[in-house]
Amino acid sequence: MNVTDSITYIGVNDHELDLFEGQYDVPNGMAYNSYVIRDEKVAVMDTVDANFGSEWLGNLAAALDGAAPDYLIVQHMEPDHSANITRFMSAFPNAQMIATAKAFDMLANFYGETYEDRRIIVKDGDELSLGGRTLRFVAAPMVHWPEVMFTYDEADKVLFSADAFGKFGALDVEEDWACEARRYYFGIVGKFGKQVQGVLAKAAALDIQTICPLHGPVLTENLDYYLGLYKTWAAYEVETEGVAIAYCSVYGHTKEAVELLAHELEQAGCPKVAVSDLARDDMAEAMEDAFRYGTLVLVSTTYNADMFPFMKSFIDHLIDHAYQNRRVAFMENGSWAPTAAKAMRAKMEACKGIEFIEPVVTIKSALSDESRAAVRELATALV
Ligand code: FEO
Repeated sequence: MNVTDSITYIGVNDHELDLFEGQYDVPNGMAYNSYVIRDEKVAVMDTVDANFGSEWLGNLAAALDGAAPDYLIVQHMEPDHSANITRFMSAFPNAQMIATAKAFDMLANFYGETYEDRRIIVKDGDELSLGGRTLRFVAAPMVHWPEVMFTYDEADKVLFSADAFGKFGALDVEEDWACEARRYYFGIVGKFGKQVQGVLAKAAALDIQTICPLHGPVLTENLDYYLGLYKTWAAYEVETEGVAIAYCSVYGHTKEAVELLAHELEQAGCPKVAVSDLARDDMAEAMEDAFRYGTLVLVSTTYNADMFPFMKSFIDHLIDHAYQNRRVAFMENGSWAPTAAKAMRAKMEACKGIEFIEPVVTIKSALSDESRAAVRELATALV
């Protein structure tokens, strides 16, 4: 696939992967993207996952059409992109590797190589001429690791954006971009909003017509849409008006209260209610909804004088990913000493900019007239 007359896509699709980065469900697989830029000099942008070295080298050979690459530009050292560096460097002994100093440190740690006489260390703002075009390197630390850089091709106005603007899903499957890009962003990069804002500010000075990420499709149209979503996500702003409800239920009574709350919210005109069962649904999907909507209701049965374990894990995920600037409410269930709400609130105090909404709804074993009224009161307070 040609991205432009000079840039060819040489990435691969992975449909064998069970969990991306050891934790994320990828029902539609994963793409590891790589590109070749052909000019007077030839540059290859990143490699691919370890399991796809032969397929990738085949794609590379087809794109090179007999030419030899001069440079391997490594924007990110995570193994889903770096695993074939040594194979490439052996296959093309005259090629040089270009990366940040931190990336070369990681190269030694991961692969025991330094390529002292075949390396070019670059930093923010450095340029590389390929003859007819110049590439400019843009440091992008913590998007998603500290060694990351983007690369801007001035001639074709292409931004190679490393993990940014990527998504879960292989490229031979049609699916909505935003859903899987949002789940990917908040799971993988979400903690580093400040750093993403920093690199977006640098990117704003560039004339970008195409974005080439390391995962997901090449973005060629309507770039303001993608850039706008990234600005919203990086700033932890509300993307969609609505309420996310994340719950744990043991015998179904707490779930019944959640269903009543969802119904009451919809009746009251709430534009969107997204419900996640934390024991059964994908945790990354529940996280995505927590960040997407302006209000989050945490609902848990009491367990060992605390909250249910899946809720504890969910709140830890929120804290770890810098969840902030949202409205949060609580519902709890407890047959003899309900304490889940107090425990959930104590944990959520670690998040910045949270407005806690009253009332806290307490259910004693099963819904009663009194607790139904409290659920309705909470729905009114939230809308
Ligand atoms: Fe796609 Fe952070 O690696």
